[in-house]
Amino acid sequence: MSTTVPGVTGYTPLAKWFHWLTAGLVLAALPTGFVIAFISDKDDGIHKMAFYALHESLGLTVLLLALARLVWRLGHPPPPQPAGLPRGLQRAATGLHHAAYGLLILQPVLGFLATNAWGFPMHGQTAYLGLIDLPKFMAANEGLAGALQGLHSLGGWLLLGFIVLHLGAVVLHQAIRRDGTLLRMI
Ligand code: HEM
Repeated sequence: MSTTVPGVTGYTPLAKWFHWLTAGLVLAALPTGFVIAFISDKDDGIHKMAFYALHESLGLTVLLLALARLVWRLGHPPPPQPAGLPRGLQRAATGLHHAAYGLLILQPVLGFLATNAWGFPMHGQTAYLGLIDLPKFMAANEGLAGALQGLHSLGGWLLLGFIVLHLGAVVLHQAIRRDGTLLRMI
């Protein structure tokens, strides 16, 4: 394990890459998802389609990264939590981190299933990264699509809530407890 400050055990370089790549991709996927509804489709939908393509490729990359990270993480436990952290906060941190893994996997899966159920699989204009057509695996079903889209929307708000809590925890560790937690990840 790498150490960033004396007495503080940091995350490994690969763990840091996983963390910051995921953060960047999610911070791009969330706003592109929220704004799509406000993009006009008057220009034959060219601009709207570009947003769908970008959003869906960002989201699917989050899924691939989250799965790779989960598999890697099973064999590489994180460094111990800072000494002296109250038991309740330790439990809250662990619980939130586990929930985040779940959400990072569930959210793109819901989005992917919803696009298929709407009858717009990742083909052609919305191929993965503009290059890879993904197989269509279900017939269009508006009722199911609406339900999946509703859950995907809820997932977006939950992820936003997680980001706010996560940033709150960083401030708590860095400015109040001053236990070097942020330095473990940079
Ligand atoms: C971490 C990954 C993802 C995040 C954080 C995310 C987030 C969001 C958010 C916040 C919205 C707006 C929901 C609302 O209007 O209330 C949205 C919409 C949408 N997302 Fe995602 N999404 C992700 C992955 C995906 C994936 C992988 C796909 C499809 C392959 C997808 C397809 C869609 C579609 C079709 C919409 C609806 C846009 C519309 O017509 O309004 N998303 N997403």
